[in-house]
Amino acid sequence: MATHKKLQRWVDEMEALCQPESVYWCDGSQAEYDRLCSEMVKAGMATALNPEKKPGSFLFRSHPSDVARVEDRTFIAAKNREDAGPTNHWMDPAELKGKMTELYRGCMKGRVMYVIPFSMGPIGSPIAKIGVEISDSPYVVVNMRIMTRIGTRVLETLGTEGEFVPCLHSVGAPLQDGQKDSPWPCTPLIEHKYISHFPEERTIWSFGSGYGGNALLGKKCFALRIASVQARDEGWLAEHMLILGITPPKGEKKYIAAAFPSACGKTNLAMMVPTLPGWKVECVGDDIAWMKFGGDGRLYAINPEAGFFGVAPGTSLQSNPNAMHTVEKNAIFTNVVLTEDNDVWWEGIGYEPPAGKKIDWTGNPWEQSSGKNGAHPNARFTAPATQCPAIDPAWEDPRGVPISAFLVGGRRPTTIPLVHEAFSWNHGVFLGSIVGSETTSANIGAVGLVRRDPFAMLPFCGYHMGDYLAHWLSIGAGSAADKLPKFFYVNWFRKSDDGKWLWPGYGDNSRVLKWIYERVSGTGSAQETPIGYLPTPDAIDLSGLSLDAANLEELLRVDAKEWLHELEGIRRHYESFGAKLPAELGNEASALESRLKHSLSY
Ligand code: OXD
Ligand code: MN
Repeated sequence: MATHKKLQRWVDEMEALCQPESVYWCDGSQAEYDRLCSEMVKAGMATALNPEKKPGSFLFRSHPSDVARVEDRTFIAAKNREDAGPTNHWMDPAELKGKMTELYRGCMKGRVMYVIPFSMGPIGSPIAKIGVEISDSPYVVVNMRIMTRIGTRVLETLGTEGEFVPCLHSVGAPLQDGQKDSPWPCTPLIEHKYISHFPEERTIWSFGSGYGGNALLGKKCFALRIASVQARDEGWLAEHMLILGITPPKGEKKYIAAAFPSACGKTNLAMMVPTLPGWKVECVGDDIAWMKFGGDGRLYAINPEAGFFGVAPGTSLQSNPNAMHTVEKNAIFTNVVLTEDNDVWWEGIGYEPPAGKKIDWTGNPWEQSSGKNGAHPNARFTAPATQCPAIDPAWEDPRGVPISAFLVGGRRPTTIPLVHEAFSWNHGVFLGSIVGSETTSANIGAVGLVRRDPFAMLPFCGYHMGDYLAHWLSIGAGSAADKLPKFFYVNWFRKSDDGKWLWPGYGDNSRVLKWIYERVSGTGSAQETPIGYLPTPDAIDLSGLSLDAANLEELLRVDAKEWLHELEGIRRHYESFGAKLPAELGNEASALESRLKHSLSY
């Protein structure tokens, strides 16, 4: 294969800086994956699970200090501070590079430096992009093989001149001569951990952590933070959205993309089993959507990932049967309980922990009676998307799938109804800009504090959030309204005054998706309210569900006083964007206010 000079030069430079024992170019083969896994088992870093229960699967336990994304140590090092905006941590790129270069010097001593060429999106798709991750973690290699497409075929597509995003990663734990490795190497010092993005250079430097989004650099770092900047510059969208296809008993499939903050059930919705007879939901992706306009003027989405990196606790045959089937084989589990027969268990798996010896995520013997969690709350499974029984047949279509609706939402026990539809694109962007989750409130029924998380991108937008919202507006301004997806704000999490969920959620969310399907098809009855279009009371199909009429009324109630209170919070949120707040969004807030006041004067 002809060499890509720029790539070779970068690898040579990083080798000179990090001083690994050797350099290994990953080919992405099954043999390579198997060899790395068995080496990690031999080294005591991984446990091979029972081949009868979880064939081809492995368990890892992280260092207790390295269990989640470190937002406080995540930097957007744009040249101008202003370009990172108020929602990101910023550092001057030259200063950050200086600091990190010193950390990287000799950081891979005694380790292999793996070079992982990867494609975000089906190889060769006009929407896909290529990255190359350099990492000293074999755990990263095997996870990247599931989560992205890696190896020789990516290098072939890159050719000798192709563009790639360089992603440098080290766990930051060099080995001295003869030093025994630890099962989960990482730097113990939080102030030495850096998850850094250089948006102008389209470059990622990560140091000190081996966990998830800190280390699998294709996911949050590339596919959201760097790609959001590329998308702004190139006129497309890189979003923290699941993608699903929904098909009625008789009729055509439509695709929906949905943005919810982390831990609001994106994976569950993406793989949902509808309770409405005859309806089908199929999964294109559970976390990220890249969308570009097709020749017909519609927005087409791909899932840039190739696997699921899902939160294990709470995943059960009841909450997400498709996810449970996806992880039956060829899966990697991190920080869950190991049972005596070498299977896995976690809180919320839907059955009691089996009898016999169990080891918790910290590697210690564990019994449920201890009252402690056996799995870490952010324990994860990594599994290939192809293994999902509900995977959409078009999930790897290089052209992407046409999107008919955008959903936004968060956890809102009060104020926000079950579903409402935006009046227009700009109103939809307004809804996307105000979503968020309520912090849990000590007083039942009290209005909690809302952590606003525009389009669920708060930790993932690689530039100024005000400019990001302007970009969403410009996407709409340049397109024909009838070609664009419609926006819906959904809220599965509304509670009654006595703190009970009003809506069953999970598979019953198909009832809301049905109304959305009907609305984007030009049917589905709606009433105009000050906040948007709401379903008429009979428009949500409740057949086979016993839901109190009072619950439904509450779920669809629009309280103008509560919304005026909400507006105060929205205005405070908007103040943080200063002059970068697009005027259109300020206008949407004012228009909402006057509609609410008008409704109160009746
Ligand atoms: C994730 C997240 O892991 O959003 O997907 O935190
Ligand atoms: Mn996510």
